[in-house]
Parts: sequence; structure tokens; C-alpha cells
Amino acid sequence: QSKTNGSVNNPRAREEPRLGTHGKPLYTTLAGHPVSDDNNSLTIGESGTGLLEDLHLLEKLAHFNRERVPERVVHAKGHGAHGYFEVTKDVSDLCKAKLFSEVGKRTPIFARFSSVTGESGFVDTNRDPRGFSVKFYTEEGNWDMVGNNTPVFFVRDAIKFPDLIHSQKRNPQTHMKDPNAFWDFLSLVPESLHQVLITFSPRGVPDGFRHMHGYGSHTFKWVNSEGKANWVKFHFLSDQGIKNLTHEQGIKISGINPDYATEDLIQNIEKGNFPSWTFFVQVMPLEDAEKYKYDPFDLTKVWLHKDYPLREVGKMVLDRNVTNYFAEVEQSAFSPAHMVPGIEASPDRVLQARLFAYDDAARYRLSGNYLQLPINACPFAKVQNYARDGTMVTTDNGGSKPNYYPNSFSDLPQPDSAQKDVHPYNHAAGVVDRKPARRWVEDDDYEQPRMLWQNMSSEDQEQTAKNIAGHIMGAKDFIQKRQIEVFRRCDEKLADKVEEALAEKKKSSEPYTMVA
Ligand code: HEM
Repeated sequence: QSKTNGSVNNPRAREEPRLGTHGKPLYTTLAGHPVSDDNNSLTIGESGTGLLEDLHLLEKLAHFNRERVPERVVHAKGHGAHGYFEVTKDVSDLCKAKLFSEVGKRTPIFARFSSVTGESGFVDTNRDPRGFSVKFYTEEGNWDMVGNNTPVFFVRDAIKFPDLIHSQKRNPQTHMKDPNAFWDFLSLVPESLHQVLITFSPRGVPDGFRHMHGYGSHTFKWVNSEGKANWVKFHFLSDQGIKNLTHEQGIKISGINPDYATEDLIQNIEKGNFPSWTFFVQVMPLEDAEKYKYDPFDLTKVWLHKDYPLREVGKMVLDRNVTNYFAEVEQSAFSPAHMVPGIEASPDRVLQARLFAYDDAARYRLSGNYLQLPINACPFAKVQNYARDGTMVTTDNGGSKPNYYPNSFSDLPQPDSAQKDVHPYNHAAGVVDRKPARRWVEDDDYEQPRMLWQNMSSEDQEQTAKNIAGHIMGAKDFIQKRQIEVFRRCDEKLADKVEEALAEKKKSSEPYTMVA
């Protein structure tokens, strides 16, 4: 399996250039007509008016007006690179996915890193979780691992996701970042505390994309070839090690080079200093799920490493920059629903909703046929089905073949009952209702954030408290007080330190920060 560039599926990209009489590639209109002059539009006389018959001019302007597609509603600012994943340890006892079938096997990948709440031109050094998406081009179709650089998330039911994002993006009236909305929402949703503490800790501003870990965050299921299943969590640990920027560094760099992380990624790959991550899984037997002290399907909680240690799987390496940002990064679309046989979902409510949200977003952002775009199409798993037509068809659209099933033609695609795409397991039936999970009510939401805070060095605690203070000082007093109460329920010292840092900030002439 090899993949030479992002346009590997596009035969046009490999065509020989069409030459003009000058012996050089000929400039053509979009429809392929020769262009004679690209400096002067067509006019009547030297100082005369322009003419509608200047197809080249009209086409250039019209095409320019259509250059933007909607940016991602979240994670709009980011960059990506190509590379490969190599299996380093045998995990066939855990997962039957062919990409893990033998040690040494390599699978081409495309990874995209991003920040969440800024627009496509936003600064790279903002305080925000980072997206960590990896598309594995396997012979069984693509596996998209769409994670973050944090093992937990702000909410554990996706019904709150649009509100979370509204509160962290721009105010509907002023179109400014809004500290009141930001902290109003978070202080009313204390399950967010674990993620809040990570975001305001030094890890909240990673020093570029190479120096952060990636996590699948949710619990997934791995199934082996005998049908035995386990719950798993994915960890991609940076071989470059963790490196962060302080608040002051982040603010300074954002004014000097807003594309700091993007440039760092491009330049290191260019130099042959290929970033890599070692892929580990935590493995939980299915029967442990009920017994474990934390609900394993609650996205605000981690599984302790001492309970479920990391088991190595392989290494991902990024060794090739994109050749075209729009075609490879902007048009890339990742979906947690794209799994391969052997990798399955869990009942995590956020994951279940995400299985819908991403394909839906891509259909809006890129068209219903976004999977035909070269960066999203899997070059190793031929797509064979009866879907046809729609905007942006880029294939032969099934040619003259029938577009319905069942049909009487045995040479056309047939479902194969031997291809089990779900491992049967018992899922407790119950009353249909809108309720938090039983264990969310019983579990202590403050215990894991407390462990995180208490395990920080005193230097990191200082920085965390200051980072929070510099941000929350922009919010109204009653909102500040409510969030400090949330901190106090976690740890007295955390609340005291934030209060002290806030008092200091208020005395200073510094403005509040909505960046780093
Ligand atoms: C991007 C929805 C939670 C990681 C997106 C996009 C949507 C979305 C609509 C834009 C997709 C596009 O336009 O291509 C949601 C919903 C969530 C949720 C409804 C429910 C709470 C999460 C979580 C993670 C995550 C928990 C990580 C564990 C990402 C990443 C991207 C993204 C990495 C960028 C993908 C890329 O690089 O193109 N999300 N998200 N999201 N989300 Fe989420």
C-alpha cells in the first residue's frame, strides 16, 4: 500500500501538461479554452469600456466569489500532514481490524490538528483544547480517530454541545468573545470542571501540535476474530514529549505569528524531523463496566492508569506535508462513525451523537458526495453501492449499472452476512425517558479534578490559578463567585488561589484575556 500524494485518487493530477506554441504549459479557461492574455481585459479601444464577451475575466471573478466553503463550525483553524501508522506490538488478541493484523504493517494516514473555538484565521496559541484527528486509509475502508489532546470533555451529554460552543465562541450581539457567556455556562455545568482545569493548566496552550498527546477520549469497543470484545480507550503519546507555552508566551506569539503551530509542523516535516506518536490502548473487560468505580461511558472521567494500564499498539509518523491546503486540509472530513470491522462504538451518549454530527456537518460543508473527494476517499477499499447523483459527483456515478437493490444481476454489489459489523452484547433495556445516567448522579464529579489539581506541581498550580483569573476577570461578579464555588467544592486551595490571583489581576491595569 502506498499513497504518493493527496490527489492520489484523481487521475487528472497525473496527466501530462498540455503545451502551447511556446512549448510551456498552456494557460486555459476553466472549460479548457486557450487563454491568450491574463494581464489585459477585453476592451473597445485602449481606454474604452470592457466587454461581457470576456469569458476569461468573468470566469475569474465568478470563480473567485465562490472560493470559500463554510468553515468548520468548530475546529476551523488547523493544519494537517500525511504519514503512516506502523504496528509495533501484536494486538490480534484484542482487535481483528486488518490494520493491526501483523507487527510491521504500515497504513497510510492523514492527520489534522486544530483548535476548537477560533475561526479559520484565528491564532494558533490560544487557550483551547486541540483537535487530534487521524484518518487511517485501510483495506477495509477508512478508520477516522477524531479525538482531542485531552482525555475528557466539558459535557457528557451531546444535547449540551451547541450551548457549550455558543458560550465559548462569539457573542450574538457584539461578535466578540464573551467572558460572561463562557463562565456563565461552565459554572452552571460543573461536570465541565475536569476539562476546565486541564484547559487552564499549562497544557491548555501546547507548544505547537507536535508537543501534545492525542486521545480518543470516549470509550470504544474492540472485537477480536473470535468475537471476544473489550472496552478500550485510545492514547497517542507524543514522542517529542509534552511542551507548553505560558500565558505570556502564548499572548506574545499570537501577535507575532498567528500560525505558529502550523508553521512548526510544516517546517519540521520539511526538515525531515518527522513528528511521531506512540499509540496505546487501555483495555477494560466488558464485565468490568458495571463494577468500575467510575462510569466508563462518562466522557468527563478517565480510567486510572493503575487500574487499566497502557498497552502499546504502534506508532504514527507524519512525514509528508500537504501540497494543497484546500484540497487536503479544508476538504478533509473526519467522522467518528467511520470505523472498520473490529472497532465499534460504546453507549457513551456524546459518542452516539457524534456518530451523527460529523457526516451531517460534512454534507453541509462540502456536499452530499464529500466522500468522493480525493482526501476522503479510501484508495484501498473500492466503494460499491447503489447511491447515485447529487451535488459534486466526481466519479463515473455508477456508469450504466442499475441503481437499485435487490436486482437480478449477480455481478453487482451484494450484502455479505459474514461481515459482522457489530459484536452482539447485552445492553440493558429500560424505560424510555430523559434522565441522567444513574451513575452520573451517584458519582463524585469533583474527585478526578481534585486528583488532577493535587498532582500538579506548585508552579503549575500557580499558573493554572493565574490563567483562570486573567480570563474570568472579564466576567460579572456573580458569575465569578459561582465558578469559584465550583472550584471550592473541588479543593479549598484551588478556590483560594484563584481568588488571590483574581484580586491581584483586578488591582493591575491588565485587560482580561480571551486568547491565552
Ligand atoms: C469537529 C460536533 C464533541 C473532536 C466537529 C464538527 C462538528 C462537531 C459538527 C465539525 C466537523 C466538520 O465540519 O468537518 C461535535 C459534537 C460533539 C463534539 C456534536 C458533542 C459533544 C467532540 C469531542 C471531541 C471532538 C468529545 C474529541 C474527543 C473534534 C475534532 C474536530 C471536531 C478533532 C475537527 C475534525 C477535523 O480535524 O476536521 N465536532 N463534537 N468533538 N470535533 Fe467535535
